[in-house]
Amino acid sequence: MATVIEPIRADDHAAMDGWFDLTLRCQAHDTPDLPRLSRRRHALRLSSPGFERRAWAVRDGTEIVAAAEVALPLHDNLDNGFADGLVAPDRRRRGLGTQLLAHLVADARAAGRARLALQASEGIATSSPGSGFLRAAGARLGQVEMRRRLVLPAVDPRALRDLAASARRAARGYRLVQWTGPTPPDRRTDLAGLIARMSTDAPQGDFTLEGQRWDAERVRRRDAAAAAAGEGRVVTAAQAADGRLVAYTETAVPPDEDDIARQDDTLVAAEHRGHRLGLWIKLANLDQLADTHPEVRAVDTWNADGNRWMIAINDAMGFVPISRVTDWELDLTRGQSGTTAAISAAASGP
Ligand SMILES: CC(C)(COP(=O)(O)OP(=O)(O)OC[C@H]1O[C@@H](n2cnc3c(N)ncnc32)[C@H](O)[C@@H]1OP(=O)(O)O)[C@@H](O)C(=O)NCCC(=O)NCCS
Repeated sequence: MATVIEPIRADDHAAMDGWFDLTLRCQAHDTPDLPRLSRRRHALRLSSPGFERRAWAVRDGTEIVAAAEVALPLHDNLDNGFADGLVAPDRRRRGLGTQLLAHLVADARAAGRARLALQASEGIATSSPGSGFLRAAGARLGQVEMRRRLVLPAVDPRALRDLAASARRAARGYRLVQWTGPTPPDRRTDLAGLIARMSTDAPQGDFTLEGQRWDAERVRRRDAAAAAAGEGRVVTAAQAADGRLVAYTETAVPPDEDDIARQDDTLVAAEHRGHRLGLWIKLANLDQLADTHPEVRAVDTWNADGNRWMIAINDAMGFVPISRVTDWELDLTRGQSGTTAAISAAASGP
């Protein structure tokens, strides 16, 4: 019997619930030691500013047994898309993943996209079904990221204080600016400039990505979406003598996700590097996190394998590796040489 792939609409609560249940089942099976997605964040999964998001489900009766989603950037990277797929653990190796991926490929091609980026979660030294699947689908490995965790409170707070004092001395002439929650309106333009640099300066691996376009309004909408998802945000920036922000670090506190905070961006503008600003703002932000969210019991961060400066800072702070993420790119322009014959055949339709 042919597999029926149906759209999931954001206002279809039964479908959204079924997709959430499938996500939790897969997380418990595939990554039992990592935090679970919260229901609140899931509810907003199809509505993030700056992206068009679509999702599809495969059902057995009323139960959703597989699902897939695609996010299409709207401000920049108009040739690219980001995709993800899940098949219930007891339904794997029967071709469902291939059929869903073929559907994603057809949809992204129809939207004019030339590439899809996908990820797989791995153990530190073991590979996952996701990477086996993506390799078999014809995707190309573009980058490997290590997930590192800092358990709080820090084991040696005195060592961290000494580290912060030496970083502060090296960063003489700069001033810290801190906030929690949405970016203050008078800081949005500076922050937009730094976030845009993050998309060009952080290692992108072997991917075809262009710099992101950010302005104050996009920062405002991004912050509003995070607040709507119940996500706390803790930010430390460094201000140069001329008053402009030249470095920032952001930590997100997702609701109901095992009290594990997520380290998001950290960037020092190129012309201000070499003054230990990166270490200084990260340590100051850790203090701010402890003050404002005492319930947080760990912070997780993701670093591309080639990002030795960021890794050196995280090592110094006491982060330790806990798992890996592999980042893959699927070329949608090359037909059967870019994707496997099975996917190309299914994606080009009857
Ligand atoms: C990855 C995933 C979606 C695959 O779903 P699936 O329905 O089992 O995939 P298929 O049956 O279509 O597999 C197609 C091919 O991929 C490869 N593959 C799939 N699972 C694999 C595994 N565990 N190890 C190695 N190769 C694998 C095989 O070549 C397979 O063909 P075969 O069964 O004839 O050998 C599923 O394992 C899953 O939900 N994993 C967790 C989420 C995830 O990692 N998603 C990756 C991003 S899309």
